[in-house]
Amino acid sequence: MNPTFPARVPLAYLPTPIDRLDRLSRHLGGPELLIKRDDQTGLATGGNKTRKLEFLVADALAQGCDHLVTTGAPQSNHCRQTAAAAARYGLGCSVVLRGNAPAETTGNLLLDHLLGAHVHWTDGRDGSEVMGRVLAELRSVGRRPYPIPLGGSNVIGATGYVLAMQELMGQLEAERLNVDFIVFASSSGGTQAGLVLGADIYGFRGQVLGISVDHPAESLATQSAALATATATHLGLETVSVGHLVNVNDDYLGEGYARVSELDREAIALTAQLEGILLDPVYTGRAMGGLIDLVRWGAFTRRHRVLFWHTGGSAALPAFSTKLL
Ligand SMILES: Cc1ncc(COP(=O)(O)O)c(C=O)c1O
Repeated sequence: MNPTFPARVPLAYLPTPIDRLDRLSRHLGGPELLIKRDDQTGLATGGNKTRKLEFLVADALAQGCDHLVTTGAPQSNHCRQTAAAAARYGLGCSVVLRGNAPAETTGNLLLDHLLGAHVHWTDGRDGSEVMGRVLAELRSVGRRPYPIPLGGSNVIGATGYVLAMQELMGQLEAERLNVDFIVFASSSGGTQAGLVLGADIYGFRGQVLGISVDHPAESLATQSAALATATATHLGLETVSVGHLVNVNDDYLGEGYARVSELDREAIALTAQLEGILLDPVYTGRAMGGLIDLVRWGAFTRRHRVLFWHTGGSAALPAFSTKLL
C-alpha cells in the first residue's frame, strides 16, 4: 500500500521528539511510558492541528484562496493554530467561536486576536449559519475564503496524521522499540482517523486508543472509521478496512467538554510536577487522566510500553486558572 500524499506547506518542526516519562511511570508503578511531543510542533505554541494545517493550507493556496475560515470552542487550539498558519502565509483568517464573548480575553482567545484573526461569536445562533454568513460576507467583498471544518477533520487534515504515524514508525524502528498502546485525546476524529489509517499502512502492531473528551465512544468510533476510509481514497489507496483498529474509550467524559474533573486536575499536576510537561485541561489532561486510571485498573501493566501522544493545548491553561488551583 503506497499512499500518494498531496502537496503540503511546512508549518511544523518535524519529527517531534519522543521522550521517556520515567518518573511518572515509577510513581504509578505501571508500564513504561513514552511521550510523543506534538505540543512542540512550534506553530504559536504548537499542537496537533499544525500537522493537519500543513495539508489544508497547501490546498487553500492551490485553490487560490486568500482567507481561512474555521470554527471551534472559545478556547479552541485549532482556531489559534489556524490563525497562526494564515499569518505565516499572508492569508486572512476568521474564526467562528461557540457562545458569547467572555469577560476576559485570555488563553487561546488572546492569541487569536494577537495573530490577527477576525473573531465572530455564535451568540446562541447555529454555528454553521454563522460560518455561512461569514463566508458570504467575505465573498461579497471579493475575498476567496477557504472553509476548514471543526478541528480540521476532513480527509485533507487527517492526512497529516497518516504521515505522523509514518514518522513514529521510523522513530521506533531506529530505536528498535515496540509500543503496545498509543493513547491520545480524541474529539473531532481527524487525529484518530489519520493514526489508524497510518497504523494499517505502516504495519503498527499495537493498539491505537483514543480517549474521547466529548463524544460517546460509538459515534466517535463510527465517525473516525468513516473518515479513515475516506482519507484512504483521498490518498489513492484501494478500499481499506480499518474499523477494527478504531478503539475509543469514553469513560472519562465526566461532566462534559471543558468541565475539569478531579482526575483531569490530578493528571495535569502529576505530569507537570514529575516531568515538567504541561498538559491542558480540555484534551490532554483528560487523556492522561484516562491513561493513569487505566494503569490503576490494571489495563496497562509493567509488561506494557505505552506511548502518550501529546496533542498540545497548554495555551488554554490561563483561561482555566480558577478551575485548576
Ligand atoms: C490539544 C488537543 N488535543 C486533541 C484534540 C483532538 O483532536 P481531533 O479533533 O483531531 O480528534 C484537539 C482538538 O481540538 C486538541 O486541541
